[in-house]
Amino acid sequence: MNIGVVGTGYVGLVQGVILSEFGMNVICMDVDEGKIDMLKRGKIPIYEPGLKELLDKNVQAKRLRFTTDMKETTENSDVIFIAVGTPPKEDGSADLQYVLQVAEDIAKNMNGYKVVGNKSTVPVGTGKLVQKTIKSILDKRGMNYEFDVVSNPEFLREGKAVKDCLTPDRVVIGTESDKAREIMKNVYDVLYINQTPFVFTNIETAEMIKYASNAFLAVKISYINEMALLSEKVGADVQEIARAMGMDERISPKFLQAGPGFGGSCFPKDTKAIVDIGKKYGEDMIVIEAAIKANEKQKQKMVEKIVNNVGEQGSLEGRTIGVLGLSFKPETDDMREAPSIDIIEGLVKAGAKIQSYCPQGMKEAKWRLEHLGNSVKYTSNEYEAAKEANAIVIMTEWYQFREMNLEKIKENMKDRYLFDLRNIYSKREKLVSDFKYFGVGN
Ligand code: UDX
Repeated sequence: MNIGVVGTGYVGLVQGVILSEFGMNVICMDVDEGKIDMLKRGKIPIYEPGLKELLDKNVQAKRLRFTTDMKETTENSDVIFIAVGTPPKEDGSADLQYVLQVAEDIAKNMNGYKVVGNKSTVPVGTGKLVQKTIKSILDKRGMNYEFDVVSNPEFLREGKAVKDCLTPDRVVIGTESDKAREIMKNVYDVLYINQTPFVFTNIETAEMIKYASNAFLAVKISYINEMALLSEKVGADVQEIARAMGMDERISPKFLQAGPGFGGSCFPKDTKAIVDIGKKYGEDMIVIEAAIKANEKQKQKMVEKIVNNVGEQGSLEGRTIGVLGLSFKPETDDMREAPSIDIIEGLVKAGAKIQSYCPQGMKEAKWRLEHLGNSVKYTSNEYEAAKEANAIVIMTEWYQFREMNLEKIKENMKDRYLFDLRNIYSKREKLVSDFKYFGVGN
């Protein structure tokens, strides 16, 4: 089967590569010529473990190619996936202009029956809007080609995207059309045969499933973070609490790691978007709103903790803080809504100088933190970041920070404050006694 994927961001590119790995003929299309050029040269614009190998393999097998040409993509595809961004607008609602632009472009180039699959996270009702947009352009063209719109949300996690797409927990397919449902089953034939659970439903339900899942996970994180804040005050250990809670199968131990707050390209955006959808339909999403608020508070609490311990009278003037990890999580260079941004801003505002290091995130961080000027320096490893520092802050749980030589870190530091915002060292007695150690919720 011939597949077109429009948009070569995280979702589009990974899906395109994986579908070619599943044996489909895939064209990945993007309007960004620079990006397509890079991809044609075998370079990947994002950092995603395992992706390059699969991309090379499938390009060589001639199942995968890249283009900026929408006509070529539409004409040569049976199924066209829309995988473009839906960034939040000022008011938190999802900006649909890119999705609708692609719908128009598909309609302008349509040359026969097509399934239009939507992978972008979009508000309920967008599937129908895509349908209307395509229909109106076809009417203008005087063509009455048949087509079906399918909502097929993507649940991949950055850093684990390849694995998540190769072995997803479930595949959600929302459509009213039997024909489109059969075609989608064929697209995911490999998964279907491997007994991956499939959920066949209508477009609106599929659209809601994506928001409902992401918002639930965000609530779970804010919940445990709130428990962490209280645990510190009452002398409890949030990791033990999470472990015991997780033993209840109804709760599950996953996504109960207390930390500096959730970030990334999905949770912050999707929680705001579903609150906005609620407003439009006259329903207050009280629980989700609270999770967003708790997340903002969590980041500020991290700043307070550092200022109160390392600073004097609320000031970090003259203090140097080494920050380890800038990306919102390990194994990615993504800095979108990373807690490190707000926390570093808070520390700089209190007068601190920052020496940062991140295995992948520094290029992104440099422009996102540009407004902080010379207050933020970038170093070439964790030891340099710790040199002459009054404190170090483990912001992201990269493996290399779990394995670092703590003796070397320690001897380079001016004071031995260690803020372990991911609790990676909380159970190591010796370390905790060597440093002035602060975890989250213990
Ligand atoms: C998420 C969803 O997991 C994925 O299904 C969806 O398609 C996109 O959004 P992603 O943003 O890549 O994926 O990262 P994820 O691993 O889910 O982490 C999100 C944020 O939550 C990170 O900032 C992470 O540090 C934080 N987190 C996660 C915690 O603070 N505690 C946890 O227990 C889990």
